[in-house]
Amino acid sequence: MTSIALTVNGEQVAADVSDRMTLADFLRDQLNLTGTHLGCEHGVCGACTVLVDDEPVRACITLAVAMGGKAVRSIEGFEDDTAMGVIRQCFSKAHGLQCGFCTPGMVITARDMLARGCCGSAAQIRTELAGNLCRCTGYGGIVKAIELARDALKERAGNTPAS
Ligand code: FES
Ligand code: FES
Repeated sequence: MTSIALTVNGEQVAADVSDRMTLADFLRDQLNLTGTHLGCEHGVCGACTVLVDDEPVRACITLAVAMGGKAVRSIEGFEDDTAMGVIRQCFSKAHGLQCGFCTPGMVITARDMLARGCCGSAAQIRTELAGNLCRCTGYGGIVKAIELARDALKERAGNTPAS
């Protein structure tokens, strides 16, 4: 066991973790944050994507013991996030939710993509989403949702007076 101290969704957390525990298991089993979903459990599907120090990472192949001093944000940590609110609405509107299982990872990745401004075209969105697999339906609704979110966020930014 190793003691770690980190922040999770803005809250200070101190815990003892086994050296082989993944970040996904830590969030789900130790903190009861079960919105982080596990699909492949070997870094391929993207379902377990969370932010660590604002960068998307795959929680299934990240060790909890390496999270000391880090800021982890899981899907439960976006309640006050304007961009995530818009993304959620657009996924609902464009029927991008589909199975729901991959959705936490999809929307966290989408938020990162939009923050980086790399969603100019549907083709770019599909390329950027290559690490988040949908095996139930297809990407049409998901890509449309991200396009809607891109346009809505751009419009919001345009309507915000410069300070
Ligand atoms: S569960 Fe982590 S990438 Fe698939
Ligand atoms: S939308 Fe989740 S696997 Fe297709």
